Amino acid sequence: MDQDKPHCDAVFACSMLLVLLTGLTLFVAPIASANSAINSAATTATFRTKCAGCHGQDGGGSAAGKSMNVPDLRSPAVQNLTDAELAHIISDGKDAMPAFKDSLSEDQIHSLVTHIRSLRQQK
Ligand code: HEC
Repeated sequence: MDQDKPHCDAVFACSMLLVLLTGLTLFVAPIASANSAINSAATTATFRTKCAGCHGQDGGGSAAGKSMNVPDLRSPAVQNLTDAELAHIISDGKDAMPAFKDSLSEDQIHSLVTHIRSLRQQK
C-alpha cells in the first residue's frame, strides 16, 4: 500500500497541472483575441481619420480623392504591391499622397498595410 501513495501524488499533480493549463488557456485566449480586436478597431479608426478623407472608408476613393485620381486600394494594381512598398508609400508619400512618417508610428503604418489587405477581401 505504501507504493500507492507516490503514484497517487503523481496523478494528483498531473491533474492539477492539467486543470491549471486548461484554466490558463481559457483565461488567456479571450484576452489575446480581445487585444487583436482592439488593435484592428484602432487601425480602422486611424484609417477613417487619416486616409478615408481621400481613399474612402472602403478604399474605393472619396469624392475628393477621385478628383485627385487616388487609386482604388482594393484594385490589383495596389494589392499586388508588396507590404514593404505599401509601408514605404504610406510613410514617405507619393505625388499628391501625403507622407505619414511624422504622424504615424511604424506599428501603425504596418497595421494600416494589414488593413489595406483586408479591404480586398470585403469586395
Ligand atoms: C490628401 C489625400 C490623401 C490622403 C489623406 C491619403 N492618401 Fe493615399 N493616395 C493619395 C493619392 C493622390 C494617391 C495616388 C498617388 C500616385 O500614385 O500618384 C494615393 C496613393 C495611395 C496608395 C497606393 C500607391 C500606389 O502606388 O498605388 C496607398 C497604398 C495609399 N495611398 C495609402 C494611404 C493610406 C494608408 C493613407 C492614410 C494613412 C492615405 N493613403 C492617405 C491621396 C491621399
